[in-house]
Amino acid sequence: MAKHDVKDFENRFITGDCGEVLKDIPAQSVDLILTSPPYADRRDYGSKGAALIAPDEYIEWFAPKAKEFYRVLKDDGSFVLNISDKVVENFQHLYVFKLVIYLCEEVGFHYVRDYIWHNTATPPNVFSRGGLGRTKKSHEYCFWFAKGETWTFNMDAIRRPYSKDMKKFLDGKGKGDRAQNQRPSTHNFNCEKVWADNGGADPGTVIEVGNTNSNDAFAKLCRERGIGHPARFPEKLAEFFILSGTNEGALVIDPFSGSGTTAVVAAKTGRRFIGIDSNADYNELASERIAMETEGGDGYAGQA
Ligand SMILES: C[S@@+](CC[C@H](N)C(=O)[O-])C[C@H]1O[C@@H](n2cnc3c(N)ncnc32)[C@H](O)[C@@H]1O
Repeated sequence: MAKHDVKDFENRFITGDCGEVLKDIPAQSVDLILTSPPYADRRDYGSKGAALIAPDEYIEWFAPKAKEFYRVLKDDGSFVLNISDKVVENFQHLYVFKLVIYLCEEVGFHYVRDYIWHNTATPPNVFSRGGLGRTKKSHEYCFWFAKGETWTFNMDAIRRPYSKDMKKFLDGKGKGDRAQNQRPSTHNFNCEKVWADNGGADPGTVIEVGNTNSNDAFAKLCRERGIGHPARFPEKLAEFFILSGTNEGALVIDPFSGSGTTAVVAAKTGRRFIGIDSNADYNELASERIAMETEGGDGYAGQA
């Protein structure tokens, strides 16, 4: 049983295996877990205990950690998992989808929505020559799970500005015959609620963000210190889930924190954070990053 107060861990980066570190965090204390674990067969990030994980062994590796994720989340908390698959013996391996099923059927999560992160800056790779029967993969998955029957969701925080045409409709101009608005997909737009002004558009499930920050202050720090940096996700991606999935003051954990992107966005948006990573170098750099990038960030304690 956890013997600590969650406040002992807040706004810090902690070094260790996340499954073990989380055991010290009280049950039902976390609002959002947003994370991107090492993908199967990807590099080990220089961490002890974080060797390459074979796709066939991925669930076994992830399972004890997922059970801790579930335990520390509040009943209305969410878990967002950013992950991607890989081609094994000429076909995409199914470990990602098997993991989703495991998380729901064995751990107890509810499957809320599958989001697609479209990385508009995916560079050409071995598939781009066309000879391997497919394109490069330019998206990753972000699976949103809830622990309980209800969860925090703030649509207004992620709405997009309406398009010109939509604004026209909302102003009562250009609506035409709404019965004509049935799309080929059979979706019918002939409904007052759909045409109501909600203050901005529903952003939908595809999040377009180019992962281009290869020369930012964090990357420079890594180069200066000779540390190979972790594969990072962009702040805009983290922002989407933190703003929609939590309220100000909430506690957000990234158990595979890497460069601390989740923590930085949590701090910038008035949330509390805990970053856990098995690589002490990354935690040290993440502490420096948050001090540089957030107002008053130098007040955050360093790693444990
Ligand atoms: C894909 S990176 C996360 C990057 C992060 N989203 C960012 O934007 O910087 C995965 C991280 O998981 C860490 N890691 C691997 N195994 C771990 C474990 N068992 N417990 C905690 N962290 C682990 C690696 O050191 C690496 O930094």
